[in-house]
Amino acid sequence: MINTKEKELQEVRMLGLKLPTDPRWVNLAEMDLEEILTDHAYCEQKAAVSCISLISQYPERKELVKELAPIVTEEWGHFRLVIAELDKRNLNLGRQRKDEYVNKLLSFQKKGGSRDDKLLEKLLVCALIEARSCERFRLLSLHINDDHLKEFYHRFMVSEAGHYVLFIELARKYFGEERTNQRWKEYLEREAEIMGELELRGDRMH
Ligand SMILES: [Fe+2]
Ligand SMILES: [Fe+2]
Repeated sequence: MINTKEKELQEVRMLGLKLPTDPRWVNLAEMDLEEILTDHAYCEQKAAVSCISLISQYPERKELVKELAPIVTEEWGHFRLVIAELDKRNLNLGRQRKDEYVNKLLSFQKKGGSRDDKLLEKLLVCALIEARSCERFRLLSLHINDDHLKEFYHRFMVSEAGHYVLFIELARKYFGEERTNQRWKEYLEREAEIMGELELRGDRMH
């Protein structure tokens, strides 16, 4: 029988991620639900906004427009679910915070290059954020000490897993398997370093 630790590692490997989240993160996160739900709400808002920007920056990419248009609605729906959860608990949406994780990923994007080169970078950053969010939602859905929230996070986990696949597939379609996989590997390596550099905080989704 495989132990829990090994199982966690396998699940993370399915997403390609190199470093599993420290399981103590769930304990930190559940200490202050207002904080973690606020950060989560803004992650959803930013996900919706980045799909809108991709559509307006690459309108000629028909498949991208077709695939991402419904994701905007879905991500905004996620934002609303989080707001409703805050409301139900009589908690408030706080202010948006600096997102060190995303900023570090963005600074790994290749500077220069053509508009198309930039698209590959953008798609892979989106895929990575989805993958890590999915991994974290999964941890919350398994280990948070509240049955309703277990269900709540499970739903996000499933949805973000689908988005991760979608972004990777768009990249492969437009840039080919080889180029996409090569750059994806570099992103995965860098993401693991970033996770190691960031302080483990219960008030951050990443
Ligand atoms: Fe989402
Ligand atoms: Fe998503």
